[in-house]
Amino acid sequence: MLRRKNILKIAIDSPAAAGAGTVAKAISKHYNLYYLDTGKIYRFIAYLKIKFPKKFNYKFLKSKIHTLKTKDLSATILLSDEVGTEASIISKIKRIRKMVHSFQLKFAYNPPKKYSGSCLDGRDITYNIIPDAEFKFYITANLKTRALRRFKELKKLKKKVKYEEVLKSIKNRDKSDLNRKISPLKKTKDSLLINTTNLNKRACFLKIKKIIDRKQKN
Ligand code: C5P
Repeated sequence: MLRRKNILKIAIDSPAAAGAGTVAKAISKHYNLYYLDTGKIYRFIAYLKIKFPKKFNYKFLKSKIHTLKTKDLSATILLSDEVGTEASIISKIKRIRKMVHSFQLKFAYNPPKKYSGSCLDGRDITYNIIPDAEFKFYITANLKTRALRRFKELKKLKKKVKYEEVLKSIKNRDKSDLNRKISPLKKTKDSLLINTTNLNKRACFLKIKKIIDRKQKN
């Protein structure tokens, strides 16, 4: 695989609804980085499983991933809680993770020329996908704050949801993502911890920007 040299790579891991996506998008825009929310790939696969239960097998999946475009990942249907829960189930399967591995590598190491680098967020980015990233962050927030954020997000999308249900599903997803055997969510020693519980979007963006600018000046 072709790897572009001297590009800026940012790796972010975080539990569900910690605000990683929002800040990653803002940071990517600011530093002209190619951005990928890797959770969306697992959500896309989960959606295929829900939509085509009979056709869903490795061959079918392989062909879908082969032709996967980033714009396929922006469908709002992928945001539902049902899809999220299914995503955390299928993401435990080694063969599925293997299938999406090269898609992520290509994205991280060979972004289109017009970008100065890449920024990926997920659960295993800092230690599995871009272990040599120039910057690594572990973005988190307390459970209730994350559930409330996700609840508001889903409300905005006019989804019929109850806060208690969102809280429960995030709790379950945390449990499954943190405790699974393959590529669990964890904070690596070389990742900087950002707790967004009491930070708004702007403050979170500025905090990360400060860290990047300071290191890049040296
Ligand atoms: O980030 P998001 O909540 O959209 O991710 C959905 C699910 O996909 C997660 O709960 C997790 O199980 C899985 N995932 C993963 N590895 C990643 C990103 C997401 O296993 N890099």
